[in-house]
Amino acid sequence: MTMRIAILGAGPSGLAQLRAFESARRAGAEVPEIVCYEKQSDLGGMWNYTWRTGLDAYGEPVHGSMYRYLWSNGPKEALEFADYSFEEHFGRPIASYPPRAVLRDYIMGRIEKSGVRDQIRFNMAVQWVDYSEQTGRFTVNVRDLKKDELVSEEFDRVIVATGHFSTPNAPFFEGLECFPGRVLHAHDFRDACEFTGKDILLVGSSYSAEDIGTQCYKYGAKSVTFSYRSTPMGHDWPAAFDEKPLLLRVDGNTAHFADGTSKEVDAIVLCTGYQHHFPFLPDELSLRTRNRLYPGDIYKGVFWIDNPKLMYLGMQDQYYTFNMFDAQAWYARDVILGRIALPDASTMRADSEAWVAREEASQSAEQDIDFQTDYVRDLLDVTDYPAFDVEAVADLFKQWKHDKKDDILGYRNCSYRSVLTGTLAPPHHTPWMEAMDDSLEAFLADSLLEEAPVRRIA
Ligand SMILES: Cc1cc2nc3c(=O)[nH]c(=O)nc-3n(C[C@H](O)[C@H](O)[C@H](O)COP(=O)(O)OP(=O)(O)OC[C@H]3O[C@@H](n4cnc5c(N)ncnc54)[C@H](O)[C@@H]3O)c2cc1C
Ligand SMILES: NC(=O)c1ccc[n+]([C@@H]2O[C@H](COP(=O)([O-])OP(=O)(O)OC[C@H]3O[C@@H](n4cnc5c(N)ncnc54)[C@H](OP(=O)(O)O)[C@@H]3O)[C@@H](O)[C@H]2O)c1
Repeated sequence: MTMRIAILGAGPSGLAQLRAFESARRAGAEVPEIVCYEKQSDLGGMWNYTWRTGLDAYGEPVHGSMYRYLWSNGPKEALEFADYSFEEHFGRPIASYPPRAVLRDYIMGRIEKSGVRDQIRFNMAVQWVDYSEQTGRFTVNVRDLKKDELVSEEFDRVIVATGHFSTPNAPFFEGLECFPGRVLHAHDFRDACEFTGKDILLVGSSYSAEDIGTQCYKYGAKSVTFSYRSTPMGHDWPAAFDEKPLLLRVDGNTAHFADGTSKEVDAIVLCTGYQHHFPFLPDELSLRTRNRLYPGDIYKGVFWIDNPKLMYLGMQDQYYTFNMFDAQAWYARDVILGRIALPDASTMRADSEAWVAREEASQSAEQDIDFQTDYVRDLLDVTDYPAFDVEAVADLFKQWKHDKKDDILGYRNCSYRSVLTGTLAPPHHTPWMEAMDDSLEAFLADSLLEEAPVRRIA
């Protein structure tokens, strides 16, 4: 009987897995039968924008946390697929920090080219996964959202690629329940224009706080106050920005902070991160972790040590994204195809613990970048994923960190060199702070290159 594999989710991680098997098939390998279940109506995962918040049209939790006017917060050269460059997709070099629609188009283009779309079953929400010790197989129970029917199928391997930036971590602060303005989590933030002319407070000091705060400023917020729990971001902020220690309580419109200061605010956005949440998995298969570079209990950051027939992709905190998911997917594929043998459980656990200990000893962002670089390198070295200079990508990340430190509102105007093609990205036609239109057409409408065709994947 042919081995059957279920991939849960058709975001960049699930798509990486489809692509990995397709590449082996094209090279002549016999590959298992694959079914990818996706609860949205299209592929692309987080990169699909939805205006919806809360529940979707079928009553399922809305997956999307992306918002209008979202631009990549890292250089595209750091996430480029090694088997599909940006230049190949767009037919010409493009600037280093594209908006969401452009990155989505790039993801789509690679998938259309590889022809794996027909392996994805859309509008199918995974509800429950069981493993039988007797049969050694999984039963995957899925709701067909359009037909409103529960269907069950059996699989030999399950690959969880459902992402981990969708279920809000939303702490309570005294007085929030009586706050007269809007209180929302970053997951539900959609449009900065809602806060034009307002004084907004963002709780958190990581990427969401930084990006939503700067977006709101770009679209006319009067002032932006960040409240940090551990450390301030410490950028050289313009006068309209302020960083305060942790929010203690809210009294009417007044937010009170741990240093005894207070501020009148119109809206509060909880940029307090997300939970790894797998309501479709039994306890004994469920990854429990905070957002970190090396979650424990998964060997090579992928294989559930207590039952490596279950795999997770993309569960790490991420400097690397698309290319790391590829590295994981190629490795998972080669284990499934019997090309790489897994060691016994105690060896896997010891290996995973050593990585976790190394992560915990890391003392700076640069060391974190080196850590994740070594992790990606470790995976790449044993598969046939096209070679690329991961260490050069690490240098890009370090340069990006410096560029942000130098100019938090201007770093997206910088250009970087592709480690695949060697091309230095052209500058964007408009400085980021003045680029109000985030559409693919506006981004690609470069006056210097207006003869070039605009390629668009629907
Ligand atoms: C606001 C925000 C901005 C970001 N910006 C960047 C950026 O600029 N650059 C960057 O590289 N990365 C960015 N990221 C990180 C982003 O999460 C990754 O780039 C990437 O989308 C992760 O891919 P994934 O496939 O692991 O997860 P996702 O993209 O989240 O995809 C998971 C898929 O699983 C599906 N799914 C979930 N549950 C079920 C279920 N029960 N049944 C069926 N299907 C299910 C979802 O519908 C989704 O399609 C950002 C993340 C957020 C939240
Ligand atoms: N393209 C873009 O521009 C963009 C925009 C937004 C997000 N993203 C991506 O989205 C992902 C998630 O980023 P994120 O910032 O949402 O999550 P995150 O990186 O996990 O950060 C969570 C933040 O919440 C704080 N926090 C958690 N619990 C708290 C509490 N009880 N009280 C106060 N503060 C609390 C944390 O503080 P501590 O430091 O104290 O733990 C941290 O600052 C990242 O991969 C990021 O790259 C990208």
